[in-house]
Amino acid sequence: MALLDLKSEDYCEDHVINGKALAKKIRKVVAMEVARLTELHGIPPKLVTVIVGYNPASQMYVRMKHKACKRVGIASEGYNLPEDTSQDELLNLIRRLNYDPNVHGILVQLPLPKHIDEETIISAINPDKDVDGFSPRNIYRLFYGGEMLSAATPQGIVTMLDHLGVELAGMHAVIVNRSTIVGKPLIMLLLNRDITVTVAHSHTKDLPAITRQADILISAVGRRKSADDPYFITADMVKDGAIVIDVASPFGDCDFDALKCKVLFITPVPGGVGPMTIAMLLKNVLAAYSFQMARTNILTSDAIGYGLFVS
Ligand code: GUN
Repeated sequence: MALLDLKSEDYCEDHVINGKALAKKIRKVVAMEVARLTELHGIPPKLVTVIVGYNPASQMYVRMKHKACKRVGIASEGYNLPEDTSQDELLNLIRRLNYDPNVHGILVQLPLPKHIDEETIISAINPDKDVDGFSPRNIYRLFYGGEMLSAATPQGIVTMLDHLGVELAGMHAVIVNRSTIVGKPLIMLLLNRDITVTVAHSHTKDLPAITRQADILISAVGRRKSADDPYFITADMVKDGAIVIDVASPFGDCDFDALKCKVLFITPVPGGVGPMTIAMLLKNVLAAYSFQMARTNILTSDAIGYGLFVS
């Protein structure tokens, strides 16, 4: 499934997967395509983000998303709504964005305040503009193998795996996470690659016995609050020669230094999954834009443009 012309040597050194380098190559391809299509259609792709309330982590992540858009020529605009915004006010904004022909991607940063129902909000986003891949239609598409608008972090993970130059079919992946943002969409993306998938979570008994079976171990627990906290995934929990993907941020779950000498590949934190997540969001905005432009302008044939990296 690796459609980018890259070899694992380009971004893997000494068993470490350089997510930052791979993300840079993806951004370059996205930027070229954005420039070409902007010239063709006369308007650039545009992402609108919405944050409700003041969550410092959300503010930081969204700032990074806007900065990344700017670097590749994607226009972006952010709504910072007060904590006491009602669900109806938020729904009205989404409906307005859904119908705005100059807006191609809508991203409502999660979590939302408790008085707003996340599922209602996500379901209200036009699926063609749902660049997070969280809406019911995009999740349904993923069930049937369609990865075009799927969640950015899981897509970033499988894109790294796709470019390792190893045969993934038949491998056993263990995911330590069952969230709607990471674990659940990742199950589908891994199954699409004929990988056997086990999902572990907070009620799993004897976790080390399960993680030791993994050819691919993906951990997204994020329990460590400082660099001094104990690692969640220690070297004795990992099989020799496994591939380890650490999704936790800003402090990784995995004992990177101890694992580096026994694994086939491992992602660092920072510089692993994080930059890939942002690159996949940019790719999703481009995909949503080319799909919408092709539909409104049937004379162009750019609809195929959205399948840039994922077959
Ligand atoms: N909060 C944490 N990760 C994400 C993400 O990928 N998308 C959105 N919308 N909110 C998040």
